[in-house]
Amino acid sequence: MKPATKFIHAGAAPDASTGAIMTPIFQTSTYVQEAPGKHKGFEYARSQNPTRKALEEALAIIENGKFGLAFSSGVAATDAVVKLLEPGDEVIAANDMYGGTYRLFTKVFEKFGIRFIYTDTANIDNVRKAVSEKTKLIWLETPTNPLMNVTDIEAVSIISKKAAAWLCVDNTFASPYLQNPLDLGADIVMHSSTKYLGGHSDVIQGALVMNDASLREKLYFIQKSCGAVPGPMDCFLMLRGIKTLHVRMKQHCENGKIIAEWLRNHPKVSKVYWPGFSDHPGYAIAKKQMRDFGGMISFELKNDSLEETMRVLSSTKLFALAESLGGVESLINHPASMTHASIPREERIKNGLKDSLIRLSVGIEDAEDLVADLENAI
Ligand SMILES: Cc1ncc(COP(=O)(O)O)c(C=O)c1O
Repeated sequence: MKPATKFIHAGAAPDASTGAIMTPIFQTSTYVQEAPGKHKGFEYARSQNPTRKALEEALAIIENGKFGLAFSSGVAATDAVVKLLEPGDEVIAANDMYGGTYRLFTKVFEKFGIRFIYTDTANIDNVRKAVSEKTKLIWLETPTNPLMNVTDIEAVSIISKKAAAWLCVDNTFASPYLQNPLDLGADIVMHSSTKYLGGHSDVIQGALVMNDASLREKLYFIQKSCGAVPGPMDCFLMLRGIKTLHVRMKQHCENGKIIAEWLRNHPKVSKVYWPGFSDHPGYAIAKKQMRDFGGMISFELKNDSLEETMRVLSSTKLFALAESLGGVESLINHPASMTHASIPREERIKNGLKDSLIRLSVGIEDAEDLVADLENAI
């Protein structure tokens, strides 16, 4: 199927009992069995739910994978992947990624004996050098949140295969409309579905997609044993969001380009981070592995005092000051004090995330209105 058809029809079959075109919300905790063990494939809703099943099938299709698993949040999906590991195992991860992932790795999993090695994965040599016989997982985020660094997924997959380690790619920023990591050699794709997949800022949810059946069994075992499953209403909302992913993403990309170029020409702006600029260090790789460049942009002001940064952040009217991203409405965010506050300041600064960095999630409103709003604020 071509992308538009895929996003609309993925996982959607008319309800067998009524013909309802939309998957019903199976709001149930359990299922009646005819005799012990004699059932219709559904025993207890932490393990199986028909609305979640439809969503999981849709997730697999839109990421060109065989199996999908839905979780109660993006971090719950990440948590499930790390639970594949044993004490003593090592993980190589990007040194610039979503703060909550960093917090989960360092504050929750390090104490269980898992070692995390953070490096600039955009430089493939760094990944190669970080590999040891204990490496079991390579965790990539590309483009990264919030500095928009790009890593060559295919090149890292060659390294991970040689090391017999899993490669998991957080594909939240790109969405499956722009990038499909499994096609580039990744073993697992992870999403904070909360963002572009849901697309309407009304659901918290996560997803994993993979091709390998034994890996699916391991992750399904973790999903049902640890229990971080999404409710059926949220699965319904996610199925609905996915149907318009392609039309939303087209507009996010179009508006993103307009805003990135406008910001770059603004006399008060010193630096704009967006992988669609031909002089962005990751441009060639982004062009190779992404279909377009998305609507996530970060920038710094020439007057990079915290006072001026805070003034701009508080002055927009359309861009709402809020965490999260990927919804139809535009958001403005201060990574240092909001989404990435869980990363120690010196660690952040070392990796290029300044206190003055402003991140935009460009929505799908009229670009002219968005530009006027930023012009007023800046
Ligand atoms: C790139 C990325 N990965 C993972 C997450 C975590 O997802 P969730 O908030 O759905 O738990 C986020 C949330 O902002 C994110 O931006």
